[in-house]
Amino acid sequence: SEHHVIAMDGPAASGKSSVAGAIADRFGWVFVNTGNMYRAATLAALRAEVDVNDKAAVIAAVDEAEVGVAVVGGRSVVTLKGEAVEDELKDQSINLAVSHVAAVPEVREKLVAMQRDLLQEHSLVMEGRDIGTVVFPETPWKFYIDASEEVRASRRGLQGQADAVSERDRLDSTRKVAPLKAAADAVVIDSTELSLEQVVEEVLAILGARG
Ligand code: C5P
Repeated sequence: SEHHVIAMDGPAASGKSSVAGAIADRFGWVFVNTGNMYRAATLAALRAEVDVNDKAAVIAAVDEAEVGVAVVGGRSVVTLKGEAVEDELKDQSINLAVSHVAAVPEVREKLVAMQRDLLQEHSLVMEGRDIGTVVFPETPWKFYIDASEEVRASRRGLQGQADAVSERDRLDSTRKVAPLKAAADAVVIDSTELSLEQVVEEVLAILGARG
């Protein structure tokens, strides 16, 4: 493809969304928040009132809901049957259930295919958990944005979500398929002591140095 992709992975509330959005704006590339795709699949399962540990029921609910992704104003927007669902995706009910839905291989296959398709039409800055390891393992530009557990809890606490963060990271890191981890060739940035602007500058410096 003539398009390029920067992969940005890391645990919950590491700041990777803000960094990825800023880099995408700088380059005029599309920012893709893959967490929102797993959140939309979870919303579908919750709306269908299925047990999120019942894999077959989750797969059926996600198929039925027709999860989609569009690009609007340089950003990914997730849809269910064509309806944008962004506002509901940060609900606590979703924080508590999403890691279970995201552990279902059939759900991941479906969403990963959509994530790869976006590269046909756009250059991307894509953030998630498995972008450098699974979705685009061939890209030369991979970052893993980390931060101490305390800083991540307080960053997410400002958004009212501190309680589910460490449990989500535990589930995401220990699942069998596409667990959260840095790719062997990712540049790891610890953002604990850094501002958003400092992380963005570091990413830009590394991208510049690598051409
Ligand atoms: O990025 P965010 O915290 O919104 O992601 C929500 C959840 O979606 C994660 O905790 C994880 O379970 C799942 N996820 C994933 N793979 C991705 C992105 C998110 O499994 N690439």
